[in-house]
Amino acid sequence: MIKESSHGQWSGQAVFIMAATGSAVGLSNIWRFPYLAGEYGGGIFVLIYLVCLALIGLPVIMTEIMIGRMGKQSPINSIRKISEQNGRSRHWQTIGWMAVLASFLILSFYSVIAGWSMAYVFRTFTGVFDGITQDGASAVFGYLVNDPERLLAWHTIFILLTYAVVSRGVKRGLEPAVKILMPSLLALLLIMLAYAINEGEFFKGIGMMLFPDAGQLGSVKNLGFVILAAMGQAFFTLSLGAGAIMIYGAYLPSNVSITNVSITIVLLDMLFAIIAGMIIFPILLSTGLNDVVFNNGLDGAYGPGLVFQTLPLAFGQLSWGNLFGGVFFILIVIAALTSSIALLEPIVTYLVERYSWSRRHAASLSSLIAWILGLGTILSFNVWSDFHPLASIELFANKTVYHLLDMLASNILLPLGGLATVIFAGWILPWRMAEDELSMGQEYCGFALWRIAVRYSAPVLLFIVFVYSLLKAMGYLADTP
Ligand code: PHE
Repeated sequence: MIKESSHGQWSGQAVFIMAATGSAVGLSNIWRFPYLAGEYGGGIFVLIYLVCLALIGLPVIMTEIMIGRMGKQSPINSIRKISEQNGRSRHWQTIGWMAVLASFLILSFYSVIAGWSMAYVFRTFTGVFDGITQDGASAVFGYLVNDPERLLAWHTIFILLTYAVVSRGVKRGLEPAVKILMPSLLALLLIMLAYAINEGEFFKGIGMMLFPDAGQLGSVKNLGFVILAAMGQAFFTLSLGAGAIMIYGAYLPSNVSITNVSITIVLLDMLFAIIAGMIIFPILLSTGLNDVVFNNGLDGAYGPGLVFQTLPLAFGQLSWGNLFGGVFFILIVIAALTSSIALLEPIVTYLVERYSWSRRHAASLSSLIAWILGLGTILSFNVWSDFHPLASIELFANKTVYHLLDMLASNILLPLGGLATVIFAGWILPWRMAEDELSMGQEYCGFALWRIAVRYSAPVLLFIVFVYSLLKAMGYLADTP
């Protein structure tokens, strides 16, 4: 058995945890989780989310790391190798193809949005939002997204940063990058937390996150929506189904316990999301802007609206808001960069294996394609904002190119890939092989639990998420309960 992936190996457990947590912690922790908690029932949502992390997140992340470490190659070739070794159809590698496609598509729009955050670092530091009005903040955002050249410049810079890390490989690129970026991310997070405690209405803010207006979970039907939203979030935030965790698992030394690192990553990702909420809520509350986001039902109030319009407005009213607003956007950029590295890695490793290219060459070509694909997202906000490629299909009638890319990746490819992965691990892979990999020759009582999860509970739950995501993407289900 080969001991190390031909692409390299993490120098230890701590670096792997930093890299995988970096992949997990991203835009969704900052703008999606706090919004979902505020909107879908606070503490109850958090509780449901925790259950989802335990029932789906943990078994799937363990499975992806395990498959990666068994195959030690790109997701496509790892799955193919394991299948062939065990006399199974090589077509299971389709899972790897879906993952690579998903990560590629996500990278193309992730980079554009990370570019907005970079633009906002400068806008906040230079005091653009000082005492600005709501209309003013919307205008600043509009001015940015309506200018394709500006968006293109920031998108290019962000893709180049990602390229700079990935093209240097595991030992000289990814590992040094996460060793610098992850401690910085933690430091900035703590600085922002201290600021929120000092400036914002901290305890009231946390109260609002955990105990929003009662009655939101009134009917059973609503509870169903909340559970499904929590499941989808658990999946996306852990970077599952995109090959990212699988390729990072391929570089994991064989003496590290997959169970331990998986639990750690899930907990850290959760902690990061909760702290993001502890920063955002007190700040919004102290400026009275929580109403704008949560009670007026503003269109697009979450995601871009929350981060790029409402929060800058709040920072503009607080003392030292320029400085700390800038710090907040740097934090977002770093969180996005450690995710985008993980999004580029699966395709680069595949090209290196398939064509024996140098990593630099493979990284250049894949970055270039992601960059070109990103143009579709950039134009969706301005020149092509009325261009709806699938207009002839009623369900997709008003979706822009960006919407369609996002839907295809997040709503279809990720959950489907996750579902296929657990079926592969639970029903196709010889279970002794999984047991060896997970127990590493020691007494291991978690295996039975993992096996039940990947054979039964996770596939059933993921199937539900998939159908739900699909219905939602097609517009059969509304966004809010
Ligand atoms: N987990 C990242 C986030 O929460 C997104 C991501 C998905 C990154 C898939 C890598 C792979 O923003």
